[in-house]
Amino acid sequence: MDYFSYQGNSLFAEQVALADIASQYGTPTYVYSRATIERHYRAFADAAAAHPHSLVCYAVKANSNLAVLNLLARLGSGFDLVSGGELRRVIAAGGDPAKVVFSGVGKTAEEMHFALQLGIKCFNVESVSELHRLQDVAKALGKKAPVSLRVNPDIDAKTHPYISTGLKANKFGIDILLAADIYRAARELSHIELVGVDCHIGSQLTETQPFLDALEKLLALIEALKADGIELKHIDIGGGLGVTYDQEVPPSPADYISKVVERLKAYPQLELIMEPGRAIMANAGILLTKVEFLKPGQEKHFAIVDAAMNDLIRPALYSAWMNIVPVVLNNSLPRQNYDVVGPVCETGDFLGKDRELAIAEGDLLAVRSAGAYGFTMSSNYNSRPRAAEVMVDGQHCHLIRQREQWQDLWRGEQVISS
Ligand code: LLP
Repeated sequence: MDYFSYQGNSLFAEQVALADIASQYGTPTYVYSRATIERHYRAFADAAAAHPHSLVCYAVKANSNLAVLNLLARLGSGFDLVSGGELRRVIAAGGDPAKVVFSGVGKTAEEMHFALQLGIKCFNVESVSELHRLQDVAKALGKKAPVSLRVNPDIDAKTHPYISTGLKANKFGIDILLAADIYRAARELSHIELVGVDCHIGSQLTETQPFLDALEKLLALIEALKADGIELKHIDIGGGLGVTYDQEVPPSPADYISKVVERLKAYPQLELIMEPGRAIMANAGILLTKVEFLKPGQEKHFAIVDAAMNDLIRPALYSAWMNIVPVVLNNSLPRQNYDVVGPVCETGDFLGKDRELAIAEGDLLAVRSAGAYGFTMSSNYNSRPRAAEVMVDGQHCHLIRQREQWQDLWRGEQVISS
């Protein structure tokens, strides 16, 4: 459920017409709906509240704009992050480090040092080498590092291979069959405190069962460790819940989390942590773009728009299908099949293929469900300044990131003088 809908012929974000946003801020522009973000966060938090202890740690990589992080922090959200940069964003946005979990396979000593000093909730450790580096950094600081091992439960999430992470063949996590031994060895490390276990099996999952299978495997591990005197305080089930881009019908956050809560009834002392990213942000945002040219061809017609793969790479990278709709419906125009493409010099630069649209040059289009992994994956390829970002709140609009200026393109660069 989101708050983007047509009022008459015109697409609105909450109470603001997207056409007005385009005239005020230009295009391409990402537009987010505050009410949608808050609604999605609450869907997770409310369902999880049926368990005695729970924490939603929003996955910052999905959308890391300070205004987004700040809204979530104000609702009490924690954060799942994967770099020192994301940690600094969370702090700048007013997030609480005590609610931060730090994932990722390649944490540097500097990142560990910074996170330990801030007192984060947990390091989600992905290898034995990482564990030893963390022990050394914590020892030098005279602190104990709170640790969860990210286990790889070898579950097929049945999603796109690039975003499936819980199979043995993936680089992520520690083989669950080896995990108990590694916990036992880690118990001997003087500056490591074992607090939890976590997993993340993939993204854009549209069924609950793989999550529940993974949960079962984690609970079996928790039991085995308990028998050895290692009592974990939390279980972190990762993110991964899918959203509707096209015809998918994923479970709602409430459906999914209530099943998890049900299974955890026997573990009231265990804190439940979740790391949703896409399910909170994807349908809370759109990418607003303008049709520059319509280019008829023998085999195909092209709608050339002012947003490109550098702004939104999901279609090019994963063949992701994203809905593209006119901002103002005009039924008097002929309907045609178009490939909606950007100005970048790559054949792979498309936002959508074979879309039936009734449009004219100069019209505005909205790429739906672009709030997650949209702006955060954007680049300056072809020396294109990155898009502006706007947050709509009821009838108000806030510019939350200004469009990059030309000089931003070469900031930090220098010509050599001899
Ligand atoms: N936790 C961990 C450890 C993760 O690696 C991820 C996502 C999440 C949580 C959040 O997953 P979500 O709830 O958003 O599915 N760029 C791709 C998605 C990559 C996801 C990577 N990890 C896309 O645009 O589809």
